Amino acid sequence: YLLGIDIGTSGTKTILFDTDGNVVASSTKEYPLYTPQNGWAEQDPIDWWEATKDTIQEVVTLSEVENEQIVGIGLSGQMHGLVMLDEKGQVIRNAIIWCDQRTARQCEEINRLVGKERHIEIAANPPLTGFMASKILWVRENESENYNRCKHMLLPKDFIRYKLTGIFATEVSDASGTGLLDVRKRCWSDEILEKLSIDKEFLPKVYESQEVTGTVMEEVAALTHLKAGTIVVGGAGDNAAAAVGTGVVSDGKAFVTIGTSGVVFAHTSQINIDPKGGVHTFCAAVPGAWHVMGVTQAAGLSLRWLKDQMCEEIKFQADEKGEDVYEIMTQMANQSPIGAHKLLYLPYLNGERTPHLDPNCRGVFFGISSVHTKKDFIRAVMEGVTYSLKDCLGIILEMGYSVDEMIACGGGGKSRFWRQMLSDNFDCNVQTLTADEGPALGAAILAGVGAGLFSSVEEACNKIIHKKSQQEPIVANTEVYEKYYKAYQGLYRTLKENF
Ligand code: XUL
Repeated sequence: YLLGIDIGTSGTKTILFDTDGNVVASSTKEYPLYTPQNGWAEQDPIDWWEATKDTIQEVVTLSEVENEQIVGIGLSGQMHGLVMLDEKGQVIRNAIIWCDQRTARQCEEINRLVGKERHIEIAANPPLTGFMASKILWVRENESENYNRCKHMLLPKDFIRYKLTGIFATEVSDASGTGLLDVRKRCWSDEILEKLSIDKEFLPKVYESQEVTGTVMEEVAALTHLKAGTIVVGGAGDNAAAAVGTGVVSDGKAFVTIGTSGVVFAHTSQINIDPKGGVHTFCAAVPGAWHVMGVTQAAGLSLRWLKDQMCEEIKFQADEKGEDVYEIMTQMANQSPIGAHKLLYLPYLNGERTPHLDPNCRGVFFGISSVHTKKDFIRAVMEGVTYSLKDCLGIILEMGYSVDEMIACGGGGKSRFWRQMLSDNFDCNVQTLTADEGPALGAAILAGVGAGLFSSVEEACNKIIHKKSQQEPIVANTEVYEKYYKAYQGLYRTLKENF
């Protein structure tokens, strides 16, 4: 058996899989997100640890599997966050997490100190507010006492690794999202660290994702019902782990996920960098490979926002009938034509990463008329999110990649209607898989490779990941969408200066 632990933003999900990738037991525990100021986002790392301990214990107990049969543990989780520990390994302050936007000034400072072009050359991405490097500079500038006490800087899942194993370690995929890694060479960049005056001693050792980084400590075994000495592999950031969990581990394969945020992710054996930084280039969880990915900040979030703010009665109706509110909303959207009677939506509720790198833009409904009904609004939101994901794919294709297989996952990927919309707009097949445990399955597969059950990540994926369905683009739809997509793109250009 293999254990995959995914330390997400809303909660931690721990799943025990058998070696064919079937779920044996699963447990999720949620925790709060703190926003001490507008645009700030923090979490307490101890909440992640409590959730990890509880969910492991529950899974081991529920499954009735002997703990010595669990041959490896893989970690996955939210990327980019900064956890600071003192010399005793105690948490100094709350973690500043991926969606925190406070560090625009520190990003400019990094560009000044490292050189804008040089930074992209080494780190493969521009310094972004979400990434760890600018957060380190922010604490140094604003909380010198905390900074001076700090002896260890860790990414979220790597803090959990430290609690499980007592080891300070990270792996290439998550380390790529710090802005401190030499993404080509897959090691910390001495040049960036020197120019930013960050002591390398503070950073954990970098491993490949499937490598064994440590083993479960005695005292943790007692708390979690795990066996002391069980191996913990590097694991991966949530998207790199989802790639393994969906079999996106060779050239030509890609996935699109619609969760709170949306991502289009393509695997590549050749590193290639978008000079404008519109899509991220990170190390893949597969040795010698990378991935490019575009991020839409408010994908599923846009539909959730519409549901919470404007669809009270639909929610009520769904609760009464015991149905899923999103299912009803999707059926309503299906009754509106392509283009939602000329209603356009820009999904920039929290600013946007791909393609604009614009923290200041905001959401827009455009073209509202008296003919519009709620059906059109729901459809327009789904179309706007889809156009934004098409923007992500567009940059990836412009970089010279081709996509032969596109897997849909995440909450939005479960909707057949949304998948058809993606297929029509991407003008490619969109597939689903028999297993949809994404990051946790990917982490468990990496543990299987680390434990020697599989000879490589690719071999494991071939064995475990199977296609379930495939939708093809409908040519007539693609042509109509194209017209609205052009209008959508033009709208941001027109409004840009006004946000
Ligand atoms: C990736 C990103 C998110 C977080 C949270 O760049 O910011 O996917 O990892 O899930």
